[in-house]
Amino acid sequence: MTDTFLVDIVAGLTRSPKTLPSMYFYNKAGSKLFQTIMQLPEYYLTKSEYEILDTQSKDIYNDFNPHKKFEIVEFGAGDGSKTKLLLKEILNHTEDFIYSPVDISDTALKGLTQSFEKELPKLNLNPINDDYFSALDELKSKSTTKLVLFMGSNVGNFKDDGEIDFLKKMRANIRGGDFALIGFDLKKDPRIILDAYNDKSGVTREFNLNLLRRINEELGADFDVPSYEHYPTYNPISGEASSYLISLKDQTVRFSDKVFEFKYGEPIFMEISKKYSDTDITELAESTGFEIVKNYYDCKHYFVDSLWRAI
Ligand SMILES: C[S@@+](CC[C@H](N)C(=O)[O-])C[C@H]1O[C@@H](n2cnc3c(N)ncnc32)[C@H](O)[C@@H]1O
Repeated sequence: MTDTFLVDIVAGLTRSPKTLPSMYFYNKAGSKLFQTIMQLPEYYLTKSEYEILDTQSKDIYNDFNPHKKFEIVEFGAGDGSKTKLLLKEILNHTEDFIYSPVDISDTALKGLTQSFEKELPKLNLNPINDDYFSALDELKSKSTTKLVLFMGSNVGNFKDDGEIDFLKKMRANIRGGDFALIGFDLKKDPRIILDAYNDKSGVTREFNLNLLRRINEELGADFDVPSYEHYPTYNPISGEASSYLISLKDQTVRFSDKVFEFKYGEPIFMEISKKYSDTDITELAESTGFEIVKNYYDCKHYFVDSLWRAI
């Protein structure tokens, strides 16, 4: 991991504007901070998707039900706390399926495994500690019917429309008739969205700064963490919520024989969290080789889990 981590971090800081890959947020401290974020009053995403799975898992199962052995593969499963609701419902009907959660975070996957083994002892669990893209390649070799889960608005975290390539690759590696259940955060009052990334208690700020701490710890860098500030923005036209860390002074950071200069006010682009309209979702499904089977919304219409069939 350290080699790839170093290469990716150096590549990001060499770019202009500087950027850091958000997939590295989730070390032990980052995974804990994200669990706290999910409980924050401002972070409606988890509550909305939890409500969908709590009230509509039965419908999702009925709409998907392949009537034969199948496999559920989940990309970026995190702690799986919402997925548990869907799996519990499915286990009421059948135990003849495998659940393979994929996550790059070893900590997240260990936490999920512990809690699922305890709470869902009948589940056939196959955790995979890997990157989405490598795990996508593995999908091809599996001949059983698949339901691919991509929950929690993970689909919105790709930079430069990367979700289109990801979903096209997913489509190419599954068979016609396989399913995907994708969680999209919907466009809404921009203030509600911005607050979700700018909580009053400052946990999201810590979550972003934690990546600088991780780089210091694992790569021996000398980021002066308090001299960077979290700066979230939301553009209601593009639907892009973006988070930056802003350098509060001119400063130099050194690690692994590299030197990076930061100017006062210079941003590091940390994360994008894209929001979608219903039309955006329909177009995305059509352009990547899927048709929408059904959309499941929460009561506030803040979030949708969209069930797609590969065509
Ligand atoms: C925003 S959390 C969402 C977790 C979960 N889907 C949910 O809804 O609660 C994103 C998760 O995706 C994982 N992740 C991010 N980028 C990844 C990548 N490229 N490959 C594999 N896992 C990734 C992170 O480690 C983290 O656990």
